[in-house]
Amino acid sequence: MRAVILASHPHGPVSAAHFEVRDVPTLEAQEGQILVRNMFLSLDPGVRVLLGAQEGYIAPILVGDPLVTLAMGEVTESRHLGFQVGDLIVGRGLTAESSVITPDVDPMCWKLDQATMTAPSNSLGIQGAAGMTAYFGLLDVAKPQPGETVLVSGAAGAVGSAAGQIAKIHGCRAVGIAGGPVKAKRLTKEFGFDAAIDYQGLSLAELTAAVKAVCPDGVDVFFDNVGGTQLDAALDCMNWKGRVTTCGMISQYNTQVPPAMHNLFQVVANALRIEGFLVHTYADQFDGAIAALGEWVRDGRLVFREDIVEGLDSFGGGFARLFDGSAQGKMLVKL
Ligand SMILES: NC(=O)c1ccc[n+]([C@@H]2O[C@H](COP(=O)([O-])OP(=O)(O)OC[C@H]3O[C@@H](n4cnc5c(N)ncnc54)[C@H](OP(=O)(O)O)[C@@H]3O)[C@@H](O)[C@H]2O)c1
Repeated sequence: MRAVILASHPHGPVSAAHFEVRDVPTLEAQEGQILVRNMFLSLDPGVRVLLGAQEGYIAPILVGDPLVTLAMGEVTESRHLGFQVGDLIVGRGLTAESSVITPDVDPMCWKLDQATMTAPSNSLGIQGAAGMTAYFGLLDVAKPQPGETVLVSGAAGAVGSAAGQIAKIHGCRAVGIAGGPVKAKRLTKEFGFDAAIDYQGLSLAELTAAVKAVCPDGVDVFFDNVGGTQLDAALDCMNWKGRVTTCGMISQYNTQVPPAMHNLFQVVANALRIEGFLVHTYADQFDGAIAALGEWVRDGRLVFREDIVEGLDSFGGGFARLFDGSAQGKMLVKL
């Protein structure tokens, strides 16, 4: 079968040239496993931290090996009692035409439930890891109260756009930060944020002033997908006992040297709480989140964008687009 493999470790910006599509041996399911024909592969910025040569928080991908990503597909062989041929599932598998998944050891594996699912591709986006990251990161980590101001970075992305809308559903004021006038306008016109900031070309001082201008009562919750200067600016705008949900740091995935932080003392001065999380640790609560997100999608309170590229050969170019500002929604590869 065909698979996307890592051709070289990126040092700095990742590009399509760091990936190749090659033939690899076909797979067979062993006892307790399922063989899945992949229909959609998820393009996730977090995979970038596995592409370097050094050990990260998960073992890095080796040159010549296929990548591992979330995939949605159809079971074509089952040696697991809970799954049947024809089931549609999400699981963490190879960036290839097929994957073998061991459901009992993979917290990111679940069967699509026709009663709650809105569309198969949504199981990798708004009703998948992206939507659930926003759901748990906001509601469980930050616990926003009605009337509070929630600031979101990476707000035009898959997680950020959902986080802002979920904040609105919970009675908060949502303010988003995005790159460029088109995306900033999209935040208020399409995703229903109360205000938007275009961060492009702004210094730390200018970004801080821009946040203060649109958050006159300060920021109670900062849902941060970006890190770096945007985190630094937000820290200077937080209210007493504010909460920072550290979801990701996409501004640093392609850089070797993160920028210095200037406003960390605000954590002391305003008794802030900064807390990270990983969505897979909520696996035992996924059913409830998928159902809630699906209900909001159906009743029109939660809107989303997909940006779908076709075929394994598009994987590398699509992946690079996660970091250059050209992604226009949840990025997927359709097989
Ligand atoms: N904690 C978890 O369990 C978990 C799970 C999933 C994802 N995440 C993290 O959540 C974050 C968002 O993921 P996503 O799936 O929403 O990705 P996405 O759809 O690609 O959105 C990411 C957004 O980040 C912005 N961005 C890209 N490069 C940037 C840079 N150098 N500086 C500032 N902004 C930049 C882009 O917006 P602009 O064009 O507006 O700049 C883009 O809209 C990532 O950091 C990811 O690693 C965490």
